[in-house]
Amino acid sequence: MSGTLLHCPAPAKLNLFLHVTGRRADGYHLLQSAFQLIDRCDNLDFVSRDDGVIRRTNQIAGVPEDSDLIVRAARLLQSHTGSQYGADLTLHKILPMGGGLGGGSSDAATTLMALNHLWQCGLSRQELMELGLRLGADVPFFLFGRNAFAEGVGEILQEIETPDCWYVVIEPGVQIPTPAIFSSKDLTRDTKPVKMSVFPSAATNNWKNDLQTVAVTLFPQVDEVINWLKNFGDARMTGSGSCVFCAFFDENSANEVLKQVPDRWASWKAQAMKQHPMYHLVQT
Ligand code: C5P
Repeated sequence: MSGTLLHCPAPAKLNLFLHVTGRRADGYHLLQSAFQLIDRCDNLDFVSRDDGVIRRTNQIAGVPEDSDLIVRAARLLQSHTGSQYGADLTLHKILPMGGGLGGGSSDAATTLMALNHLWQCGLSRQELMELGLRLGADVPFFLFGRNAFAEGVGEILQEIETPDCWYVVIEPGVQIPTPAIFSSKDLTRDTKPVKMSVFPSAATNNWKNDLQTVAVTLFPQVDEVINWLKNFGDARMTGSGSCVFCAFFDENSANEVLKQVPDRWASWKAQAMKQHPMYHLVQT
């Protein structure tokens, strides 16, 4: 057991649409969204330890270990299962923070999956999703591991078929703190709920992200990117921003757009994925 190494990609997500349908008494928002996995990933290495110690091998500057989501995920699994094992955690960060791509949540979910496997805890996918929800509203989706129609605060998930396509994703150069968007007095919280059966036309039918109206007011840089990318199709923000995406049904069209993105913005092409690459790690 000690020293066993596991290398795991932690994919990003896009919210193909996002409707805020209400607010719970605890301040969390009820929403509906279509979560799409894409093949742009952080990378994590896990080395198991016999001594119960959990530590990051490469600390993020300015992030104390207690608020580091992958350390918190590992400690949560350890205390929940009573496992005597520990782990060295190494995160190779690719996904931008404050980008609405779910990078932090995906890292946490991948940590739960990987250590559940390495430590032989035997938790089911459902149990891991319940544990993950304690770390963040998007974490259960990454443990669910398939494209999903989400309700509740994001934890009620049903698998959906989504378009097999490429996305051009542009980073406007700002990090958006999620609470700043959700707590805005200008956020509409009463979008009429829709039925899941209307999907996948949702992805292409000009549906919207309710968080975008607030984000573009607070962060005009996001608006600038949306307006630019709209020249090529239906451009929309993911999550609470800041990243903006547009779908293309053939790879060449995505490549052509990518070539034209102004240098001041980081951009890339991502392909829709059907499953989390580590989906198989959870057996039940
Ligand atoms: O759950 P997570 O830590 O990702 O959420 C960050 C913040 O976003 C929460 O503290 C809350 O302010 C807001 N949020 C919300 N409703 C959701 C998800 C997030 O209000 N469904």
